[in-house]
Amino acid sequence: MNKNDTKKKNASELREKAEEKLKPETIPLGNLSEAEVRKLAHELQIYKIELEMQAEELHKSQAQLEASMQKYYNLYDLAPAGYFTLNGKGFILEVNLAGTSMLGAERHSLINKPLSKFIMKEDADIYHLHRISVAESGNREPCELRMLKGDLPFYVLLESIAVKDADGNISQYFTIIVNISYRVMLENKLMHLAKFPEENPNPMLRISKEGKILYANRASSHLLNLWDRRINQILPQPWLKIVADALHNGTSMTFEGECCPRVYSLTFAPVAGEGYVNIYGIDITQRKRMEQELLQAKKLQAMGVMTTGIAHEFNNILAVIDGKIQMLMRENKGREKLLEEFRLIRNSVKDGAEIVRSMNKFTKVKEDRDWFVTIDIQEEIKNTIDLTRPEWKIHAEKEGITYSINQEDMKHVSRIKGNPLELREVLINLINNAIDAMPDGGTLSFSTREEGGNVIVNISDTGIGMDEDTQSNIFDPFFTTKDQGTGLGMSIVFGIVKRHGGKIEVQSQKGKGSTFTLIFPATKEPMDIPKKTREPDRTVSKKKSTKDRILIVDNEAPLGNALHKFLSEEGYNVTFIDNGVGALEHLKKEEFDLVLCDLGMPEVSGWDIMNAVNTMARKPMIGIITGFLSAANSFPAKEMKADFVINKPFELEEMLKQIQDLLEE
Ligand SMILES: Nc1ncnc2c1ncn2[C@@H]1O[C@H](COP(=O)(O)OP(=O)(O)OP(=O)(O)O)[C@@H](O)[C@H]1O
Ligand SMILES: [Mg+2]
Repeated sequence: MNKNDTKKKNASELREKAEEKLKPETIPLGNLSEAEVRKLAHELQIYKIELEMQAEELHKSQAQLEASMQKYYNLYDLAPAGYFTLNGKGFILEVNLAGTSMLGAERHSLINKPLSKFIMKEDADIYHLHRISVAESGNREPCELRMLKGDLPFYVLLESIAVKDADGNISQYFTIIVNISYRVMLENKLMHLAKFPEENPNPMLRISKEGKILYANRASSHLLNLWDRRINQILPQPWLKIVADALHNGTSMTFEGECCPRVYSLTFAPVAGEGYVNIYGIDITQRKRMEQELLQAKKLQAMGVMTTGIAHEFNNILAVIDGKIQMLMRENKGREKLLEEFRLIRNSVKDGAEIVRSMNKFTKVKEDRDWFVTIDIQEEIKNTIDLTRPEWKIHAEKEGITYSINQEDMKHVSRIKGNPLELREVLINLINNAIDAMPDGGTLSFSTREEGGNVIVNISDTGIGMDEDTQSNIFDPFFTTKDQGTGLGMSIVFGIVKRHGGKIEVQSQKGKGSTFTLIFPATKEPMDIPKKTREPDRTVSKKKSTKDRILIVDNEAPLGNALHKFLSEEGYNVTFIDNGVGALEHLKKEEFDLVLCDLGMPEVSGWDIMNAVNTMARKPMIGIITGFLSAANSFPAKEMKADFVINKPFELEEMLKQIQDLLEE
């Protein structure tokens, strides 16, 4: 049956019911005049039309009702959010399609089930509290929690409103549930991203256009401490001005900032349109340190070239003076007053020679492992403290001050490879400087530890400390702030530490003291048995040699003459030539038992003479006397094909001993 058939059927049923009700006495038709009948018929027609119109209206309303039903269905069932009607106890009375698909269940299987059954156990409390707050407030309340579709959890935003009955009891809850898993996932992602600057090991800050610190990550704490600022405070000058300039120019600007003990490169990047500046910092302490070291090594290298030349000349001059004086002293035996004057002159010559030797120590930075033994640095520190103690103790007693030594942090460490004499020199210099820095007394602390295959030694004092300027010049030769200082101590220390493949670092604050850190590579090698250093035997045998023939070759005539005189007096048959060319001619003509030869001579050098001698059928012995810095250490005699090497200036007696030993063999 279609819609029209239904309508017809309904109309005929209505007519039957109406005819039943139409009783003859309802309208007494027989009593009516014709005019009245006409009027009645007209009325009835009007009624009929009215009824038809009403029926029409009814049909329209019905159609509207059906349309709004459809709309309701669309709104409720097909809504993208899950609608749940719950009873006062939270059991599901009604649920729309989105709700069923959200929970992955058929509608009928959800009815009369508690909604809490679909909420994750961990979030049950959130739901429980939500219902309480909805009941108490009487308003719509939201909460976020995790629900389950089967075993799979998903995040929802759940909003409910409570409906109360006449007694004020909750009869129903209307609950809307929206799946927010995607939003939560994005939020989590954002949160991880937001952590990025926090995890950055370098400083990151955001500064408002007024200069206020809006954000600073954890790694910025150094900078904030240095600036004495916190979040929401204004940046100090000159950084404030840089922020303004960066914003004004619209371009990034990079500066270096010292943040003791660290150095940062800070880039001020304006964020266009936003009115703030981001500061990105990079810790460049290590790079700066390496640059400094490189600069120092270069400086020393350049000085090395210079000092080698100077030292050669200087040693020659000193050797001449010293040789002459030694001869004069021999000639004036018994004249004590005069001898005393000579001794004073000789002491000055020795001081001069010592300075030249020191220059060699700092300019030579190449590792020289031939002289290395295995060393227990703790032992070395203890010995050096004992060695220097008498000196500073006397000083302290005289001045009425006290020095205390703290060795508590000397942990057991691996051994290192090195030259014990040189390492002792390092420690002595550092200790002397520390003592000098504490004119009113104080504490000198030593600590040792091991880290990353290195042995680390810290030597700290509580003295006057150093300003930045002094710290950056401290390793420069001849840099001193002391009236009596040579300024060579720390440059020697630097050279020695470098030669040991190590590093030295300084940290100091004016008025607070200084800490020097020595870093040496550790070794697992066992201790060496200490080599006995051969002290020159001062008791020279006076046994006169048979007439051995000696050729002296030196372009320093005064020194050659002095040597000639000295060795002749000792009974040798001596010839002196002041140039290499003449010496070669002599060697062709005459036989010699020993050639005493200078190295650095114009035209024909000592090397040339050595080569010539080594090709001779009957080779004389060769002794090298040189003004080159530490030639004895740098070129061992064997490599030079010489029998001995002696540095200028020298003790005549020592040279005599060498010659006697050699010629007696
Ligand atoms: N522990 C320290 N405390 C403060 N300043 C120091 C310290 N060590 C070194 N210095 C500074 O470094 C400078 C250079 O030191 P260095 O040892 O090279 O020479 P010096 O001590 O002045 O002279 P010398 O070593 O010949 O006595 C010193 O003059 C001093 O200003
Ligand atoms: Mg010093």
